[in-house]
Amino acid sequence: MKISTRIAVLPGDGIGPEIMAACMPILTRSAEHGGHKLSTKNGLIGWAAHDVYGDVMPEETWQLCQESDAILFGAVGLPKRDPELKSEMRPEKRALLPLRKKFNLGCNIRPVKVYPNLTDLSPLKNNRLVGGVDLTFFRELLGGDYFGERRLDPDGQWAEDVCHYDRNLIVNIARAAFGRAQITKEKVTSIDKANVLGATGTFWRGIVQEIHDTEFPFVALEHQFVDAFNLFLFTKPTSFQIVLTSNLQGDVLSDGGAGLSGSMGLLPSASLDTETGFGLYEPSGGSAPDIAGQNLANPIAMILSIALMFRYSLKDEETAVKIEKAVETTLQQGYRTVDLIPENSTNENLVTVGTVGMAVQVLSHLN
Ligand code: IPM
Ligand code: MN
Repeated sequence: MKISTRIAVLPGDGIGPEIMAACMPILTRSAEHGGHKLSTKNGLIGWAAHDVYGDVMPEETWQLCQESDAILFGAVGLPKRDPELKSEMRPEKRALLPLRKKFNLGCNIRPVKVYPNLTDLSPLKNNRLVGGVDLTFFRELLGGDYFGERRLDPDGQWAEDVCHYDRNLIVNIARAAFGRAQITKEKVTSIDKANVLGATGTFWRGIVQEIHDTEFPFVALEHQFVDAFNLFLFTKPTSFQIVLTSNLQGDVLSDGGAGLSGSMGLLPSASLDTETGFGLYEPSGGSAPDIAGQNLANPIAMILSIALMFRYSLKDEETAVKIEKAVETTLQQGYRTVDLIPENSTNENLVTVGTVGMAVQVLSHLN
């Protein structure tokens, strides 16, 4: 038996609690099969925490995270309640960004896949290649505009967000992307604005090229300007595999990638400290308060986030692939949450299921 792994479970707001609850049996079953000893402990975050502690990121939750080896995260944020708190005290700035900083989560991995059975959902459904889209963003998560100095002119005449990059942050994300590409034998596309900018331009490109040449010379690498890449993402999306990008660019482009797949409910995300393997795993989709509490939310993004946890924190590729295959089989068999049914669909082979129903189907394939 391997050593015990402690997992902080933070369901959060909106659909977070129901997708998390539905996925717990999948976590347990997968751990058993993989021979892992896991212990889970729940904590409050977001508005759920605010309602109990008067703080979206209470000390208790910090402690729980600190005592853990990985975090499973549902979603935070309820836009309707934003007026109750100043921007600094809301979940984005008081919980999510500080969690990334505190736990050194510099490597954000966001896979985007158009499942062959779900091509009808993609806005590119008329492109005969779209079923082959299978790319992964490696987004730097600790630098750039997100964490640079912010200043506002008291007279309201100017504002600035400094885009600062330290060399080591770029080195770390580049190594993570090339390291994965070496295993999967895929091409890396590095995104920058080297025709105009410094930090996310020439500096970025130079370091990526250097890490490639000195440490990963056999991995295929291309550089692309961010504007051109954004075009190609929609005109020839099957030509990309691993996409290496800075923080703000990655934020923007990965939502575009999500759009390709047709539903945010399908996309997982891992945020890692590549040195320790500590990671935060969450669906990319957010709290979706409009459908919360109705057993409508798609749990697949959460299930695939659990798969990423096995891959990256528990270093168990086999269990990760098993979970991913179980999701594919479930989709092949026609099970669909409402977000996965194209408008005007007349396909009689589809079976509509809720959050729990979908998770139960995936679980049934984990033998
Ligand atoms: C994301 C989100 C966050 C980000 C927000 C909520 C701070 O959009 O994870 O992509 O901008 O990084
Ligand atoms: Mn985003």
